[in-house]
Amino acid sequence: MHDYFLFIGLPYVALFSLIAGTVYRFNSKKFSISSLSSQFLEKEKLLWGSVPWHIGIITILGGHIVAFTMPSFLQALVSNVKILYTFEALGLTFALFAFCGLIILFVRRLRNARIQAVTSNMDLVILSLLTIQILLGILIASLYRWGASWSTHTLAPYIQSIFSFRPDITYITNMPFVVKAHIAVAWLIILLIPFSRLIHVFALPLEYLFRLPQIVVWNSRRQEESVITAQIESESRRFFLKAAFGITSGLILFITGIADKIIPFFRGPELSKGEKGELLKQKLQKMKATIKQKELETERLTKDFIYISDLKNLKTDEGIYFIDYQMKPALAFKGDNGLPILYSAKCTHLGCTVTNKVKEGALLCPCHVSHFNIKTGDVIDGPAPKPLPKVKHILMDANNHIVVNIDKSKLDEYKVYIVKGENT
Ligand code: HEM
Ligand code: FES
Repeated sequence: MHDYFLFIGLPYVALFSLIAGTVYRFNSKKFSISSLSSQFLEKEKLLWGSVPWHIGIITILGGHIVAFTMPSFLQALVSNVKILYTFEALGLTFALFAFCGLIILFVRRLRNARIQAVTSNMDLVILSLLTIQILLGILIASLYRWGASWSTHTLAPYIQSIFSFRPDITYITNMPFVVKAHIAVAWLIILLIPFSRLIHVFALPLEYLFRLPQIVVWNSRRQEESVITAQIESESRRFFLKAAFGITSGLILFITGIADKIIPFFRGPELSKGEKGELLKQKLQKMKATIKQKELETERLTKDFIYISDLKNLKTDEGIYFIDYQMKPALAFKGDNGLPILYSAKCTHLGCTVTNKVKEGALLCPCHVSHFNIKTGDVIDGPAPKPLPKVKHILMDANNHIVVNIDKSKLDEYKVYIVKGENT
């Protein structure tokens, strides 16, 4: 029950709050859309905290967005072990970077009296939630390694199901507590964005690039005012010229780079006949894969039995992959008694697909090395908490009648079908 609240109710409340709250603040309190900088109250610790925090968190959230929006692309990348290791190491490094920055910012708010005076309760709540969230992220990355791989077929479909308004929490109900807590805290942070200084993520201060620098001075020092004004003016002019030069050079390089890509885009790629053929073939393959997927879904919605294989084609040491009624991968083997054994191939740990080769009587989940007994589906070793669920199936004879009494002499004539319903 609380899973429904945390992973369906809370996300929609959070997204509603994000959209409605942000629109409200932009319309009625436009001036407050800012991080309400405290730089002029204290700047040294701010620099040491803010820079690592922003570099770390922006990189990590960028990684999260790629994982949620392009899971197949990420999965293809991390199927190369070297890339997987690199992503994991980079994720952890940037997380530690962000964590150190955040702690410096937190301590600064608690210990500096001037900053304390401008710190609201909401600031403390947000800083605490972010600290917990980063710690949970680091825990996941260390305890449940290869997240870049297993999250693409568990967490990514969950997030996509929320955004497509077809929420499906079955992807995450069996996840460990740390992962569930990480997801719930994320929705909580999203919910609070419009009510906190995190709202500044929607207000990129681009005008600062073009504006003259401003120095804030206390107006009690009136006698120094004219000197300071003169200094500011000359400093400003020098700064403006430097900035203008930097920005113009940057823009020229940027425009040259973009033009290099855009001009060939409008001209159209000049492909040889062979390349054109290859491109068409790839498009056709993608379309066929989508059609196949839709056909599978329709078949599962409309039919009570689905053909998997002739019993004689099943093997004891190598399974045939198929898609079960939940549209998840499953495996069919032949048992020692000549009858079929069908398991869900989704590991009960974090949902990776188990391999189809039987070694020493066991099936392996390569993500965190769990072994499952091929005869019973039970966990032999590894972090998987439950056996592999069995897929309900029946046998049909040569006349397409359901076999009620198995005739051992006719096993080669039998065909294996899966039956509508949950795996057990
Ligand atoms: C406020 C939003 C979030 C923040 C600040 C955040 C932060 C982090 C951090 C700092 C890490 C550790 C660095 C890393 O290994 O990449 C991490 C890891 C992770 N996060 Fe998040 N996260 C957020 C939302 C989410 C959500 C919504 C999900 C899933 C639905 C998620 C899933 C994961 C996973 C699976 C990992 C482990 C990645 C790996 O081991 O490669 N995060 N997160
Ligand atoms: S997903 Fe971790 S062992 Fe299978």
